[in-house]
Parts: sequence; C-alpha cells; structure tokens
Amino acid sequence: MSAGLVQAAYIVAALFFVMSLAGLSKQESARAGNYYGITGMAIALLATIFAPGTSGLVWIIIAMVIGGTIGIHFAKKVEMTQMPQLVAILHSFVGMAAVLVGYNSFIEAPETVTHAEHVIHLVEVFVGVFIGAVTFTGSIVAFGKLHGVLKSSPLNIPHKHKWNLAAIIVSTLLLIYFVNVDGSYFALIVMTLIAFVFGYHLVASIGGADMPVVVSMLNSYSGWAAAAAGFMLANDLLIVTGALVGSSGAILSYIMCKAMNRSFVSVIAGGFGQEVVISDEGEQGEHREIMAEDVAELLKNSKSVVITPGYGMAVAQAQYPVSEITEKLRAQGIEVRFGIHPVAGRLPGHMNVLLAEAKVPYEIVLEMDEINDDLSETDTVLVIGANDTVNPAALEDPNSPIAGMPVLEVWNAKDVIVFKRSMNTGYAGVQNPLFFKENTQMLFGDAKASCLHILEHLD
Ligand code: TAP
Repeated sequence: MSAGLVQAAYIVAALFFVMSLAGLSKQESARAGNYYGITGMAIALLATIFAPGTSGLVWIIIAMVIGGTIGIHFAKKVEMTQMPQLVAILHSFVGMAAVLVGYNSFIEAPETVTHAEHVIHLVEVFVGVFIGAVTFTGSIVAFGKLHGVLKSSPLNIPHKHKWNLAAIIVSTLLLIYFVNVDGSYFALIVMTLIAFVFGYHLVASIGGADMPVVVSMLNSYSGWAAAAAGFMLANDLLIVTGALVGSSGAILSYIMCKAMNRSFVSVIAGGFGQEVVISDEGEQGEHREIMAEDVAELLKNSKSVVITPGYGMAVAQAQYPVSEITEKLRAQGIEVRFGIHPVAGRLPGHMNVLLAEAKVPYEIVLEMDEINDDLSETDTVLVIGANDTVNPAALEDPNSPIAGMPVLEVWNAKDVIVFKRSMNTGYAGVQNPLFFKENTQMLFGDAKASCLHILEHLD
C-alpha cells in the first residue's frame, strides 16, 4: 500500500469515527453509530498493517488474535451492570500502551533533522508517558472501586491536594531537566513512578458513587494519551482519534457534572473541594400511601401518563413490567411517555439502555428538557425508583445540597405516584419534599413487585 493510499484510508477512517460519535448521540442511530465505529477501525487497522513502514506482520497478527480472543470473551461475559468497570479496565490498557509507546519511542528515537524537532520529540515522550501512567493506575483504581475489590469510600490522606500539586511541580521540573540533558532514563523513570502514584491517589480520593464521572474523565485522559502516542509515532490517525476520544470524554464529563450540580474542577482535580453530603432533615409533613390496584384504576382513567424512572428501577430490574404496563396502557389509547433525567441511575444513559433492553419504543422516551413543559398537562406521573432527579428542593431551596441541579418537575402533574421501598433518601442523602405534596401518593415496595401487581389489575 502506498503512503498516499494509507493517508487517504486514514481520512476515511477518521470520518467514520466522527459519524460514529454522531450516531451514538441518539438512541435511534446508536446501532448504526457502532457499525460506523467498527468500519472506521477496520479501515484504520488494515491501512496500518499494510502501510509501507510496517514490519513484523506475523507478530502483529498473533497479538491481534490473542487480544481479540480475550476481548470477545470478556465482552460476551460481562453483565450490563458491569459495563462501567469494563470500560475502566479498557482505559487502563490505553494508558499502559501510551507508556510503552513512550519508552519505545525514547529508546528508538526517530531521526530528527533540527534541534527543535528533537526537543519536541522529547516533550512528546515525557508528556505521553505521564498521561499514560496517570490513566493506567487511575483506571485500575476506578475498576477496583466499581467492582467492589477496593473500598469505595474516598481516601483522605492529610494535605492530599498539596501532594497532588507537589507531584505536578516535581514532574514539571523533571521535564525541564529531561529536555536540558537531551533525555535521561533517570528523569523518565522517576516521573513514571510519580505519575503512577499520582493517578492512583487522584482516583482513590473520590468516592465510589462518583466513579461514573471519573470513568468518563479517564476516558478523556485515555484519549489524550492515545493522541500523545500518535505524536510520538507520527501517526495522524492516532492523533485525530485520540483527540476525538479526549474531547468527547471531557464534554460528557462536563455534561454529567452540570446535571449533577458537581464542580467539574473538583472531579478532574481528584475530589478537590468536594463535600460529602449526608443530610437528615427528618420528616417534612404527612405522606399519603396508595395500593397497586388503586394505581391501576388511576392509570386506566388517565389520558396521559409520564413515567420517570431512576436508580431504583435498575436495582429492582423493573424495566420489563414497566414496558408491559406501557404496552397495555397504549393499547387502551392512553398516551404514555418517559421522561429521562440526564443523570438518572448511576451511568450516562443508564435508563435508556434498560428501557431499550425491555423494548420500550424509542420515540416515547424523551429527555428531561423535552418533557418538562408537558408535565403540567399530564394526568399521572409514575416516579419509579427515582428520587434526587425529581426533587423540587433543587429549585426551591437555595440551601439544599442539590440546589441548582435541573430536575424533572413531576409535581406539576395532576397525580404523582412514587414507587419506592421506604422514606429513605436517594443518592444525595437529602429528603424529598415531593413525597409530602398534596398530589403525591407513595406506593411502597420493590418497584418490580409493585409493577407486577399493577399489571394484574390493568385488564
Ligand atoms: P436516587 O436519587 O439514587 O434514588 C433512587 C431511589 O430508588 C431511592 O430513593 C430508593 O428508595 C429507590 N429504590 C432503590 N431500590 C429500589 C427498589 N428495589 N424498588 C423501589 N425503589 C427502590 O435515584 P435517581 O433519581 O435516579 O438519581 C440518581 C442520583 O445518582 C443523582 O443524585 C445523581 O446525581 C447520582 N449519580 C448519577 C450518575 C449518573 S451518570 N447517572 C453518576 C453518579 C451519581 P428506597 O431505598 O426507599 O427504596
């Protein structure tokens, strides 16, 4: 394959990656997005393998067969609920790859013509290894926390932010030394060790429940690590792909932080300024209870129903009976739609995946911004295992820990039914005034069992 053809193939592959990202941003096109990604990657692999400078084809194929077999095995075995830790461990591989590419590129330095080029190469090596090493240990800690093999509570060593700052300052001084002495194994190895510890500490300082945001941030770091490797290998496609992953991961983390009312800086700086909020404000008045058969009656007499699922639906695995309720109501001519909060559950798109799994039609699954204005025209809202994402205190109480977080304004509907097991708080640890509103009734019990009871009375 000529060098020109390889470049052309790289441009086509990069376009496929962009189309893949665009496809993945909507449920209807997500499957196509995956295929675009696979096609782009296949083109990229073939072009790289058959590029003029590539040698050791047999070794490449052996490595691909071994890696591919392990990858397919784990991807098939993994449960939907274990996706975050799978993603975390995959990021650690990208981080380690960047470290190895960096060392390799230092040992076998490419020929450089000018002094400036040589300095740029040294900086690329140093920065690439740093980002890769931070991503490697950070991702392993994220995997451990999500998988329950490391303790989920944040590590709180004294002066932790000063330690982080010291790690960055010492690494910067080592970089200056590294460039000045024309490359030094000592500086590179010391910095790598510091970066390993820094990555570990950065993620260990964050509580397990915030791990989804951290995984998305590590996704971004792994992209930058890949881009750094691309610079070292002078591979344009790796630079473009790394930058796409790096920036999309950063944008996703930003969106998640905004939707959770968390400071973006606090997450990227390893829990900087983060407060652990556990509030116990006690009862806020009387709540009313309702039985499943009465909920069924209410639903049958409604013209429009909105379902807002949350983390409890995932815990109860209630998406299948929820889907059946939807089908039955729609068959009776009742309009049923879903309102999805951007951080409902514990993962970006958590609820969308569950509902898609239970074959709920995409077109009735709307985002918070698309449904909020319609809630005042809705007869009945079913809040299934959601709490913080439907908490009016976020808008009404400036002192609430979730103040400012956008929420689904379900209380504007005629009737609201809240499915949960107790009056316990949700993720943020704050009580929810929705439960005490006049138009709200509580349906206590496991969400799946409650939905099955309702189904029995829907015919
Ligand atoms: P949460 O506020 O976490 O509330 C979940 C509710 O489900 C709880 O009130 C719980 O009440 C109920 N529940 C649990 N198991 C249940 C079961 N088997 N049957 C019925 N109910 C059950 O949920 P949410 O509204 O989805 O909000 C998500 C929260 O997670 C937000 O605070 C968000 O910031 C945070 N978060 C989200 C993400 C992402 S990316 N989605 C990442 C990290 C953190 P009982 O115990 O009384 O049943």
